[in-house]
Amino acid sequence: MGFFDNDNLHTPTADDRVDGKQKVTGTAKFAAEYVIENLVYGVLVGSTIAKGTIQSIDVKEAKNAPGVIDIITHENTIALEKFSDEKKAKEAQLGLRIFYSNEIFSNGQPVALVVAGHLEQAQYAAGLVKITYSKAAHVTNFTAAVEKEKTTKYEEDKTRGDANAWKNGTIKIEQEYAQPVEVHSTIEMHASIAVWEGDDKLTVYDKNHAVKDVQGTIANAFNLKKENVKIQAEFIGGGFGSGLRVWPHTFAAIIAAKKLGRPVKVTITRPQAFTMVGYRPQAWQRVAMGAAADGTITGAVHEAITNTSAYEAFGENSTGITRTLYNFTNLQTKYKTLSLNLATPIWMRAPGEATGSFALESAMDELAHALKMDPVALRLKNYAEKDIDSGLPWSSNFLKECYQTAATKFGWEKRKQEPRSTKNGDWWVGYGMGVGTWGAWRLKASARGKLDSNGNLLLQSATSDMGPGTATAMVAIANNVLGIAKEKIKFQLGNSTLPDAPAQGGSFTLASVGSAVNDVCVAIAKKLFTIATETETSFKEVKFEDVIFKDENLSLKNNPSVIISYTQLLRNKNVTEIDITQASESGDESKKYSFNSYAVHFAEVHVHAYTGVVRVKRFVSCVDAGKIVSEKTAASQIKGAVVWGIGHALMEEQQIDHRYGRIIANDFAGYHIPVNADVPEIDVTFVNKPDPYLNAMGSKGLGEVGLIGSAAAIANAVFNATGKRIRQLPITPDKLI
Ligand code: MOS
Repeated sequence: MGFFDNDNLHTPTADDRVDGKQKVTGTAKFAAEYVIENLVYGVLVGSTIAKGTIQSIDVKEAKNAPGVIDIITHENTIALEKFSDEKKAKEAQLGLRIFYSNEIFSNGQPVALVVAGHLEQAQYAAGLVKITYSKAAHVTNFTAAVEKEKTTKYEEDKTRGDANAWKNGTIKIEQEYAQPVEVHSTIEMHASIAVWEGDDKLTVYDKNHAVKDVQGTIANAFNLKKENVKIQAEFIGGGFGSGLRVWPHTFAAIIAAKKLGRPVKVTITRPQAFTMVGYRPQAWQRVAMGAAADGTITGAVHEAITNTSAYEAFGENSTGITRTLYNFTNLQTKYKTLSLNLATPIWMRAPGEATGSFALESAMDELAHALKMDPVALRLKNYAEKDIDSGLPWSSNFLKECYQTAATKFGWEKRKQEPRSTKNGDWWVGYGMGVGTWGAWRLKASARGKLDSNGNLLLQSATSDMGPGTATAMVAIANNVLGIAKEKIKFQLGNSTLPDAPAQGGSFTLASVGSAVNDVCVAIAKKLFTIATETETSFKEVKFEDVIFKDENLSLKNNPSVIISYTQLLRNKNVTEIDITQASESGDESKKYSFNSYAVHFAEVHVHAYTGVVRVKRFVSCVDAGKIVSEKTAASQIKGAVVWGIGHALMEEQQIDHRYGRIIANDFAGYHIPVNADVPEIDVTFVNKPDPYLNAMGSKGLGEVGLIGSAAAIANAVFNATGKRIRQLPITPDKLI
């Protein structure tokens, strides 16, 4: 008997992840783990300069190394129209045109792929490729570049009311906030195995959480029919946004596989994960606010600048949160990007809002302090009764309930308004809070449901599960609609041949794909009901509203003894299955309501008086995300998000050596993320009240909202503990002593 066969070790509960056992026993297959015949291995070589051109590449020694099959560079790559034409490449959103130019835009940029029969041979030979460069002056110093940039025109400048109204406040604050590059740091390394199944047919086993988008990009890039490109990404070891597009290593694998006529696998290394698959851009922000003595905010300004690469535009909605969270009738938000010799950033968990909320929620705390007002009271005073940006009413908004529940649980009333007033031994003690909001979207999605003659239900959709427990939640939805035991329901995802679904991102999977699953299950229920009315006399005159679907039986609401099993109904009709595929999308609700999720966070920190070490001691979050479908996975999402908040506030920082424009911290010794010892018990509560308009479940997304406002809660607690306001993340000990 195997270790995990012993159920005494862990008795699964109905709430457990449906794929938990596969993941912990190693039977879940991740992209790099597919066993492919005739496979060879590619290792990428990165540029050692940050800007300039490649002058020469000497591959002689590398080519003669054991096992080396080929070394692909811009000198010998295959002819591809979309890659060789810069304009077409831009239109196709290929990002870096790998192997199609000798230009260098960032240090670490992949410039060669060494392919060998074994991984170790390719790794060894990669070190033998000799490249000479012609260097040009690079720009990687964001802090220096932003000084000039903030004085020039913004790409986006939105004003409502009077942009200068903040200056009329009795109490005013105006501050700047800074944030370094942060990196997704997924457990699983990005990997692609490219298998050409003929001249015009391609399968890619790939780490991404956007199978349909990746299919579209690759089909377009290689001039293939979409249906001839198959993307398999069933299991994902963390994504957080880093798997939302096709990166150069995937193109490299496909190009190499084409050139060599055999399958090629390219797995990036941990150091490469810091330069080749995106990151959260650096940010500079300025927030100005003015308030009357009673705390009514008269006006606010929020500007932000983030960085992009030198070859591609990438921006995020850093100031968006300030447009909706409070009743700012007079508001100006400004945003733009500046380009640096770094690789292109990408969305990273709660993109925009995580960054924006650090500035906004720190500034709210600064204003409360200046007003000598309780930070929660200040927020309640400026509560937005509707979405004043769109003018629409909230579809549902239990933010006030979140404040109250979390404050009570936390014991906020014990907070001392005066900073640096509580000491416990050598540790200063502080309480802080912060708020987050995130749009609750529902996108078009489809799902297939197949009920077989044994009563098993198979569900399929081309969505992904980068970790939140998507399959688990979908099974819960189906179980709720059809009353089929969870063990008899299987949800398949992560393959481009399945029914259309959006990428997993933006916290919209549950509300979107969940709606499709709900609808297809309702369609199956209706089909079962129709069969019952046709084949069972006791159901003949019955209406759909009068039956219940429970324990794999259809029965009458008012007479439960009139009951028939689903399998019997299939036999009655002489069919072996019910098989329905259905698309699901919202109506015009979004024209009538503003849909959003909310999170309120409270943190207690202890700051060591002599070393400046910050320990997060307690964390309490209350979240309004409508009706919660899967309590355990939902709570895990919030806990994970808060761990991110701890990293964001206290640890994460990509340092760059500007002499070479090179990323310094390319492992977890240099780039710090929270470990268990850094994380206290995280107390999560859900309001758990359905949103009446978004979808049948009443559920809003919650993967991202838990991160928003969490870093500010910690920064605000640090201020309360020490009286030191740190506006430059991360809050490391050197900034506190
Ligand atoms: Mo999220 S950054 O939209 O995956």
